[in-house]
Amino acid sequence: MQVQIAVIDFGGQYSQLIVRRVRELGYFAKLFLPKDLREVGRPAAVILSGGPRSVSEESAPDIDFPYLESLEVPVLGICYGMQLLNLKHGGQVSPCHSREYGPAQLRPCEKNGLFAGLSESSQIWMSHSDTVSHLPEGTAVLGENQEGVPVALRWREGWFGIQFHPEVTHSHEGTQVLQNFLAMAKEPPRFEIQSFRDEMIADLKERIGDREVICGVSGGVDSTVLAVLLKRAGAKVRPIFVDHGLLRKDEGDEVVANFREMGIEIERVNVRERFLDRLAGIDEPEEKRRRIGDLFIDVFWETAQNVQLLAQGTLYPDVIESATSGSDASRIKTHHNRVDRILELQKEGRVIEPLAELFKDEVRALGKSLDIPHRMLYRHPFPGPGLAVRVPGEITEDRLRIVREADAIFIDNLRKHGWYDRVWQAYAALIPVNTVGVKGDERSYEYAISLRAVISEDAMTADWVELPYSLLGETSNAILNSVPGVNRVFYDISTKPPASIELE
Ligand code: XMP
Repeated sequence: MQVQIAVIDFGGQYSQLIVRRVRELGYFAKLFLPKDLREVGRPAAVILSGGPRSVSEESAPDIDFPYLESLEVPVLGICYGMQLLNLKHGGQVSPCHSREYGPAQLRPCEKNGLFAGLSESSQIWMSHSDTVSHLPEGTAVLGENQEGVPVALRWREGWFGIQFHPEVTHSHEGTQVLQNFLAMAKEPPRFEIQSFRDEMIADLKERIGDREVICGVSGGVDSTVLAVLLKRAGAKVRPIFVDHGLLRKDEGDEVVANFREMGIEIERVNVRERFLDRLAGIDEPEEKRRRIGDLFIDVFWETAQNVQLLAQGTLYPDVIESATSGSDASRIKTHHNRVDRILELQKEGRVIEPLAELFKDEVRALGKSLDIPHRMLYRHPFPGPGLAVRVPGEITEDRLRIVREADAIFIDNLRKHGWYDRVWQAYAALIPVNTVGVKGDERSYEYAISLRAVISEDAMTADWVELPYSLLGETSNAILNSVPGVNRVFYDISTKPPASIELE
C-alpha cells in the first residue's frame, strides 16, 4: 500500500506510537530514517518525530530540508522535529534550564486549524531539554503552556511544530491535534484492513505463482494469520508444526484441529523424545533455551527439504528494529543463532514476509477479516521454548505433566469465570522444591505450583491481576485434589520489573 503519511524517525521513544496513532485515524503511515527521506515517494503529509539528541549538538540528525520543501505537503514537527524546523526556518534553539518531563497545560491561542475543537486548557505531555529561543520573523505562536512559553508554532502555511507529544494518552487532546493536522493532508484517509488485505492477496498471488511456500506454524496469532493469508492467496502452502512436547495440555491436537476447521492441513512433526533427550540433566536456563532453539531449527530444516519459498511472520516492529539496528538478523523471529540458512534464502529473494507492514493489533484485525476464530486470535502469548521456561531447573516428563495439568485447570477456570480475556497472560508454573505436606496419615514431600496472571501492554512492564479469592481458591483446591505431585499452590504477586513475566 502506498504510504500516505511519512513519519521521520529521529530516534524518539514514541516514534512507533505516532505511526500507530496515525493508522488508527485511517491513514497509512510508515516510519523512515531521516537519510531515507527520498524513499518516501509522494506522501500526503510528513511528521518529524521527537528524539533524544539536541539539535545544536554536532552530528545531530538532520533532514534534507530543500527536498522536504519540494514535497509541498503539510509538515508537523514534534519536539526534536519542531526544534529542527525552527532552525531550518532561521530561528534558534537553546538548552532549557532544566529538563522538562511530564504533564503541562496547553493553552491554544487560536482554536482553528491545528487546534480546532480543543479546550481552553488541556493536559499535554512534555519530554525535552531544548527549547526554541528565537522565533523567525513571521512565525505564529499557536499555543502556550501555563507559563506563557510558546509550545506550538506555525512558521508558514502548512508548517507546524509542537513541543509536546500528541501521540501519548497523557496528552488528553493529542488525538484531536493529530486528526486536525491529518485533515490538512493532501488525501483523505484510506487505510482500512479489508482493502489492505485485498491488495496483499493480489500481490502474493503475483509474487508466488505456482511455487510451494513453506512456513512454520505454532498456533500463535502471527503464524496462523500468515498461513491462512497464503492459503487465501491460492498458494500451495506447506505449514510445518514442530511439536517439541513443551506445549500445554492437548495443545498440539487443538492446533491441528483448528487449522483443519479452516481447511488447512498442517504437518505435525512429533519430536517430543528428541527434545526430552536433549534437555536431560540440563538446569541452566540459558543452556535450556539454546538447546531448544537449536534443535527446533534443526528439525524445521530437516523437514523442510527443497524450499522454493519460505514465509515468515515478521511484524512491523521487527522491521523497525532491524532498520534502526542495521541488522537483518534481528528480523528473523526464530532464534538468534542458526540464521544463516534464512539469510541465504533472503539473498536469493526467496523469503516472503507478508505481515511486515503491520502492528500486532492490525494482524488480529486482518485475521478477523479472514474469518479466523476469535479464540485463535486472542490467545494469551506463549513463549517459544514453551513450558520449559515454566519449569525452572531440569525438565522431566513428570514435571511437564504436573505443570500441564495445573495450567489447564487454571485456564479453564479463568474462562469459566469470564477472566481469560480480561488478563493479558496467565499460566501455571512449577516450583521445583519439595515442601512438606500431609496426605492421608503420611507426610508428603511434593512440589509447589505458582499461578500468575498479568496485565501488560507490550510485555516490557507488567502488573499482577487482582483475581477474586474465590477463583483462586477454587483453582487451588482443584489442583491439590487432582494433580498428583503437588501439595501447595501460590499466587504470584510480583510486578515486572523487577520480576519478569515467565519464571525463567
Ligand atoms: P518475560 O518473562 O521476559 O516475558 O517477562 C515477556 C513476554 O515474552 C514471552 N517470552 C517469550 N516468547 N520466546 C518467545 O517467543 C521466548 O523465549 C520467550 N521468553 C518469554 C513471555 O511469555 C511474555 O509474554
